[in-house]
Amino acid sequence: MDDHIDRMTTPWGDCALARFPEDPRDRLRAWDASDEYLLRQLAEQDTPLSGTVVIVGDRWGALTTALAQHRPVQITDSFLTQEATRANLARNGIAADSVRLLTTQDPPPERVDVLLVRVPKSLALLEDQLLRLAPAVHADTVVVGTGMVKEIHTSTLKLFERILGPTRTSLAEKKARLIHCTPRSSARATNPWPHSYALPDGIGVVSGRTVVNHAGVFCAERLDIGTRFFLQHLPESRGPRRVVDLGCGNGVVGTAVSLADPEAEVLFVDESFQAVASAEATYKANGVPGQAEFRVGDGLVGVSADSVDLVLNNPPFHSHQATTDATAWRMFTGARRALRPGGELWVVGNRHLAYHVKLKRLFGNSQLVASDAKFVVLKAVKR
Ligand SMILES: C[S@@+](CC[C@H](N)C(=O)[O-])C[C@H]1O[C@@H](n2cnc3c(N)ncnc32)[C@H](O)[C@@H]1O
Repeated sequence: MDDHIDRMTTPWGDCALARFPEDPRDRLRAWDASDEYLLRQLAEQDTPLSGTVVIVGDRWGALTTALAQHRPVQITDSFLTQEATRANLARNGIAADSVRLLTTQDPPPERVDVLLVRVPKSLALLEDQLLRLAPAVHADTVVVGTGMVKEIHTSTLKLFERILGPTRTSLAEKKARLIHCTPRSSARATNPWPHSYALPDGIGVVSGRTVVNHAGVFCAERLDIGTRFFLQHLPESRGPRRVVDLGCGNGVVGTAVSLADPEAEVLFVDESFQAVASAEATYKANGVPGQAEFRVGDGLVGVSADSVDLVLNNPPFHSHQATTDATAWRMFTGARRALRPGGELWVVGNRHLAYHVKLKRLFGNSQLVASDAKFVVLKAVKR
């Protein structure tokens, strides 16, 4: 057993839990008061955890691990959540096949008897998930949501109410709150996701093109201003080469490269299943002539060293998954390894994030390609 790992106390015993990837400098816990509140409530109310138990939005697998004896189905948008869950199950001596790990893109179970929802940051993702699950929910399904007080808004409760049925919240405990919902027998509504929009003019080859966005994807309603700046300053096309759109979101950046440079082979990577599905849909919607691969994964893990000519990256700047800085650092480190000598990493970021400091430390160089009042595009070359 790892003794540096924190332990969550549950009504049924302790669980050793860690985030993924494990970072000895990042001692943030893999659960919070909202997970504990939900588990306590289930035990105190003697909630029957029988039939199909579905857990949506578990961050690091704390709920799934604590409830593994009930053989739950976990549904997540995050590859890192899945990896954390696998590692946490193993850490507690629980067989991997005790739980079913589904992604937000998989068909949901046909019948749900207990629905536990760790409220996600994205209201759109919650809407999409509840709508996808609604046909499987019946009048006797136990539905309990949980989250920190600051994450649960009137709009969150209205979603439960509109999609599933009458909803109320509990008193707050340790800044966490529960959501209790009594499903109507015929809960149903049309799902507005995925959402497509037309790109604006002035962004090169992708001007006026369509982007497809599954719920919860970064900037699913309109183009991010940082991405827009990046699209205006992408490297010139240079014929056959291997390019990675790292943290691809809806895939607009990699699609721009493919359109400008049909001989390029583009790998789209994101840790979000919704993002990779969006990137693939965006690519297909634009009839792009080139070659592409779509991969859900943690940054450039699994991409061979010295195999890539160009990495394009708009790093995540707030994430529930890890501290922002750590993710950018890992993405840049992965890029340095994956790039062949002479290969380039191009990064867009808010000026105040000072990515040039990291790039200089890692690559020994960082060049300013473009800047405006808010953003910079930087380039680092692997020597
Ligand atoms: C700022 S968004 C950029 C999205 C897109 N490239 C754009 O510019 O619109 C950052 C993306 O990084 C993804 N991401 C976060 N952590 C990741 C990781 N460890 N590995 C791969 N992608 C990650 C997020 O899911 C998100 O889609």
